[in-house]
Amino acid sequence: MSARIVSITPFDDQKPGTSGLRKRVAHFRQPHYVETFLQSLFDSLKGLQGQTLVIGGDGRYFNDTVIQTAIRMAAANGVGRVIVGQGGILSTPAASHLIRHNGAFGGIILSASHNPGGPDGDFGIKYNASNGGPAPERITDAVYARSKVIDRYLTVDTPDIDLAAIASLEVAGMAVDVVDPVADYAALMESLFDFNAIADLFAAGFSMQFDAMHAVTGPYARAILEGRLGAAEGTVINAVPLPDFGGGHPDPNLVYAKDLHDLVMSPEGPDFGAASDGDGDRNLIIGKGRFVTPSDSLAVLAANAHLAPAYKGGIAGIARSMPTSAAADRVAETLGVEMHETPTGWKFFGNLLDAGRVTICGEESAGTGSDHVREKDGVWAVLLWLNILAARRQSVDEIVQAHWATYGRNYYSRHDYEEVDTAAANALMDDLRARLDTLVSEGFEGREIVLADDFTYLDPVDGSTAAKQGVRIGFADGSRIVFRLSGTGTVGATLRVYLERYEPPAGDHDTDTQEALADLVALADTLAGIASRTGRSTPSVIT
Ligand code: G1P
Ligand code: ZN
Repeated sequence: MSARIVSITPFDDQKPGTSGLRKRVAHFRQPHYVETFLQSLFDSLKGLQGQTLVIGGDGRYFNDTVIQTAIRMAAANGVGRVIVGQGGILSTPAASHLIRHNGAFGGIILSASHNPGGPDGDFGIKYNASNGGPAPERITDAVYARSKVIDRYLTVDTPDIDLAAIASLEVAGMAVDVVDPVADYAALMESLFDFNAIADLFAAGFSMQFDAMHAVTGPYARAILEGRLGAAEGTVINAVPLPDFGGGHPDPNLVYAKDLHDLVMSPEGPDFGAASDGDGDRNLIIGKGRFVTPSDSLAVLAANAHLAPAYKGGIAGIARSMPTSAAADRVAETLGVEMHETPTGWKFFGNLLDAGRVTICGEESAGTGSDHVREKDGVWAVLLWLNILAARRQSVDEIVQAHWATYGRNYYSRHDYEEVDTAAANALMDDLRARLDTLVSEGFEGREIVLADDFTYLDPVDGSTAAKQGVRIGFADGSRIVFRLSGTGTVGATLRVYLERYEPPAGDHDTDTQEALADLVALADTLAGIASRTGRSTPSVIT
């Protein structure tokens, strides 16, 4: 069957952000909007003909429609084979694994991550390259440039394919394999971790609750935790992926996973609580009576990774995004391994992982992962924690307290001001940037400032740079405030303020986090004029 050519006029707003193109569903539903972006992608990928693409998504509203569109357009553009998850489902880390496992050319992941779904929610399209990781900027820039001048797309006139059953099908001469979304991923997890030790832990009465938030990890968590590891039936809650995530906000933080948090923090709760987000790449970790911040989790996982079979020979290095706390840096120093500070967004870890310079990576935004795939991985983080708990036979709280007693504690919090006026947010950032030199020479409110810059990253592997990645203000006592604007919001601007204070090993590790950071919070406000410029006296979300 030959391709049909459809004439189109370009859009000017298809610039991929931190994690692909992300907009309201209604925006994506404009005639030819999806097709324009996909064709711009196909036109930008050299050597795609005859190759394999992985396609899948987090099951959110519009996922099914766009999968069918993408399959037809892939066939029209000469793709040789498509691997698609049954029901159109693939978690982001599972898609990354399938790309690598099958030597695919790349993959198209349909998700807006932790953003709400449903007809009034968000949708997103992201391209991952052959290493399994988010496309580097040279590809996303090319797609954006193409989307501004494109005048046609290619498709074929075939009926929708049946994604309900595992099968090998054909669409206009292109092979389509509908695969079990869980099987290969679960096998990968089993190859990394000591499943026998974890199963023994559960058999000994260890209890857990995993909240899949009606998003993509339900089938994965059920198959692995309840199926292979013998956790009690009902350990995984909200396990069925729904197009609107059951009306919830699939972001595993203390606001949207409050019920889980309250349960595990209570004395009657289970020993361990965890949750993942819309597309399965984020994680929330709570032990009985102890919430573990993502920054601390990264540090604890790095310090204990050798307890899991995959990392028993030690780790090559650690990377963290710039706004993530420096807790992991102290672990890297002790282990004598490389430590890298990268811009926000998982794609910046790709080169370091590919080059074998780091093994474990993490972001303060509940993302942790390793070199097993090229995405952060929620279920992986939960399993590494379980492996460590099984090996140490201590509680989460004991492990975290022991960690602080060894390395010190980085009190840390992020304050988000969501949906603020874009012009006001940009002006706030611009004014800060203009004052950086003065801040270093004069300090602020009697505090000595040792670093004030707008973070520029120099990639040590390919020499590329990424500028304007966020304003860092470092104080003489080791405290730090970082200001940056989100790259994933879909309405207005989101100002993120990251606050951090270091307490040495022998210091006080038991203060409430917001209390420990209260001085810095006040300082951040006077420094940047947050309340006066945004009209917000309190953040929308505190994590
Ligand atoms: C946010 C997080 C960032 C993460 C990204 C994708 O991006 O802060 O760490 O990589 O989502 O999950 P932001 O909205 O801050 O640009
Ligand atoms: Zn996500």
